[in-house]
Amino acid sequence: MNTTTRPVPPPDPPPRIPPGTAPPNRILYATMGIVLAVLLIGAGGFLWLSGGRGTNLGRIGGPFTLEDGNGKPITARDFHGNYMLIYFGYTFCPDVCPTTLNAVAAAMDKLGPAASHVRPLFITVDPRRDTPSVVKQYAAAFGPSITGLTGTPAEIAQVAKEYRVYYAEHRTGPGPEDYSMDHSSVLYLMGPDGNFIAPVRADQSGDEIAADLKKLMG
Ligand code: NI
Repeated sequence: MNTTTRPVPPPDPPPRIPPGTAPPNRILYATMGIVLAVLLIGAGGFLWLSGGRGTNLGRIGGPFTLEDGNGKPITARDFHGNYMLIYFGYTFCPDVCPTTLNAVAAAMDKLGPAASHVRPLFITVDPRRDTPSVVKQYAAAFGPSITGLTGTPAEIAQVAKEYRVYYAEHRTGPGPEDYSMDHSSVLYLMGPDGNFIAPVRADQSGDEIAADLKKLMG
């Protein structure tokens, strides 16, 4: 038996940067990374979702098991027969989530009788803080039409993966509660059969969202 060990090459020496000089490449790459991320989360991600309809590679959505505001298990099947308008966010969100949910509630008012066939769902990406009672109270604050859903971290990870939702914890301090959640912001319209119909832009007014829904629901 050969017990000789392979010689380990010496580690690369650290790059030599004169003190006080920022390496221009690193700044360039960091900037490019941020620009790419913003494009993916914003318009790029939206177009990516738009182009995904009807292709296997682009499959969006799927069965999920989550918890409603009373902590009761709820599945995608419970909404079959109605359109689902799904938004992923979190209750501590300072701006985007409340703005979007206000617009969704306004869109439901605008839709009139057709709204009775649409179930707007708010699914948290922060299940640690957003317990069933928290999402219930939060969703109710925007109006009776919106249902807040949460789940275990594993359940949330699974549904986020199925809907291609990006989310990540962003530390804001040393404490356990010192974090915000970065997350993509798209409304997903799912048909009465549970299948994905189209994304709806979340950065629209209630009137605009209602107009999109009317068009998409035929
Ligand atoms: Ni948000």
